[in-house]
Amino acid sequence: MPRGVPREINVRILEGEGVTKYFGGLAAVSNVDFHVDEGEIVGLIGPNGAGKTTLFNLISASLVPKPGVIKFKGENITGKKPYQICRMGVARTFQMVKIFTNMPVLENVRLGSFFGTLPGMSSADIAREAAELLEFVGLSAMSATPAKDLTLANQKRLEVARALATRPELLLLDELMAGLNATEMAQAMELVKRIRDKGITIVMIEHVMKAIMSVCERIIVLHHGEKIAEGTPREIANSKKVVEVYLGEQADAGS
Ligand SMILES: Nc1ncnc2c1ncn2[C@@H]1O[C@H](COP(=O)(O)OP(=O)(O)OP(=O)(O)O)[C@@H](O)[C@H]1O
Ligand SMILES: [Mg+2]
Repeated sequence: MPRGVPREINVRILEGEGVTKYFGGLAAVSNVDFHVDEGEIVGLIGPNGAGKTTLFNLISASLVPKPGVIKFKGENITGKKPYQICRMGVARTFQMVKIFTNMPVLENVRLGSFFGTLPGMSSADIAREAAELLEFVGLSAMSATPAKDLTLANQKRLEVARALATRPELLLLDELMAGLNATEMAQAMELVKRIRDKGITIVMIEHVMKAIMSVCERIIVLHHGEKIAEGTPREIANSKKVVEVYLGEQADAGS
C-alpha cells in the first residue's frame, strides 16, 4: 500500500463473545469468540457435529446463546426473535434445503421479500425484484416450475434467491455445495462471489475444501464446539492442529 494512504478501516458487521450453547450436558458451541468484517467471505469449517450449524442457529436467533453475546453492526441482538434478525439484515440458507415445495419458484422468492428489510414494498416492486433475483441466480426459465421439480442444485439456488429477497447485509450459507457435481459447484462458487460483489457479507459453512479455500478470505475452525483455529486459507491449510482433527480426514475422504 502506498505511504500516506490510510488503511481501509474494517467495520465489524458481526461479533460473538463467549458464545455457548448446551444441549443437555453437551456443549454444542463452547465459549466461541468470533467476528466478521463487512465485505468478507468467511468460511466456517470443522468435523461433523463440531457445532457449525448450531452457531448459525444462534446468529439467526432460532437458538439463544447461554452464556454469550452476539452483536450485529454493534447492536446486541442476543434474545431477539428470528424475524427481527431477518429485518435487521441477516439471512440464511439451510443445510437441508427448506423451500415451499409445491409453490412455484417465483412465489418462493416473493415470500422472502415479505420478511425482509423493506416490508412496505408494493407487490409490483416485490414481483419485479423476485424476477431480478431469479435472473441473478440463473433460474429465470423456471419461475413457474413447482420448487419440488427442481434439481438439488437449483433448489439451493432458489433458497439463495429467497434469502437475498429479504435484502440482507449478511448472508449465512450452510453447506451450499453439498451434493452438487463439479459443474454445479463451480457455478455455486461463482454465485457466492457475485453475491459478495453486491456488497453482501458472507459466512459459509462447507466441507468442500476446494470451495472454502478458493472463495474465503478467512476461515474459522470449530471442533467439539470450540474454536480451534482462525486464519487465512493458507494459514489454516498449514495448521498442524487443523490437519490433525479435520483436514487429514478430509484428504483421506478425497475432498
Ligand atoms: N436441537 C438439538 N438438540 C440436541 N442436540 C443437538 C441439536 N442440534 C445439534 N445438536 C448436537 O450438537 C452438536 C453440534 O451439531 P451441529 O449440527 O451444530 O454440527 P455441525 O458442525 O453443523 O455438523 P455437520 O457438519 O454434520 O452438519 C452435535 O453433537 C449435534 O448432535
Ligand atoms: Mg451442520
